[in-house]
Amino acid sequence: MSKLNQRSIPVQWQGQDYSVWVVDNFDGYLDAFALEVGGNLTDERCPFGVLLWPSSRSLADIFAEVKPLPEAKLIVELGCGVGFLSCVLAKIYPEAKIYACDYEESLGSFVEQNARAWGVEDRVEFRAIDWRREPPSDLLSKADLVVGADLFYDDSHLEHLPPFASQLLKAGGTLVLADPRRFRFSKALEELQKHFHLLEQREEDCALDKEGIEEFMIGAGYREQKISILTLSRI
Ligand SMILES: C[S@@+](CC[C@H](N)C(=O)[O-])C[C@H]1O[C@@H](n2cnc3c(N)ncnc32)[C@H](O)[C@@H]1O
Repeated sequence: MSKLNQRSIPVQWQGQDYSVWVVDNFDGYLDAFALEVGGNLTDERCPFGVLLWPSSRSLADIFAEVKPLPEAKLIVELGCGVGFLSCVLAKIYPEAKIYACDYEESLGSFVEQNARAWGVEDRVEFRAIDWRREPPSDLLSKADLVVGADLFYDDSHLEHLPPFASQLLKAGGTLVLADPRRFRFSKALEELQKHFHLLEQREEDCALDKEGIEEFMIGAGYREQKISILTLSRI
């Protein structure tokens, strides 16, 4: 796909103003994407990472209040989209290396742009990683923390994502996920508990009237979305 036009949206985090770069024209982008994949919009390629999703925003707000771990040196974000959460984590852990991972290679330019905008380009690195494949050997059992926002929207994710995240973590490492509780959520929780202990589950409301949240997410009259935040430890 040719280089994507980006626009920045304002995001307040820890009382400061930041910019987050997302796709400029989502409808136009979807059309171009559909053409590129021959109209075959399946899980093989997913076009949704170019937006900033409510689950990411909720997780960033929670991390601003409470660090997910006292210390973390190596962090992996799965399905990072534009890399917003990775930038937030780089701010929270100024010593940590963060791998922002997604299987859509075109997202690399968004992650790089956001890492520069947040001043964390020295420690946030995009990697094209698909959780349906074997984890890269250099990351096996290396991460203190794995995070992800809004990742359970296809049946295949339920099977592949939990063992993949578990393989990346050190023994006793922590996984934090935010999910907008779509119909797969309870099944996802079951699958996760085959590989992790559930330490905490909390519910947050994310307002949907924030700039950058596309109309199609808002639906008929909904002004906010319930987000579940799961904290799990590797068995
Ligand atoms: C709904 S978006 C969420 C993006 C971002 N986490 C956020 O909250 O703004 C889901 C992301 O998961 C990525 N994804 C889907 N399947 C994947 C796979 N098999 N391996 C890696 N990433 C995947 C998509 O490319 C997309 O960026």
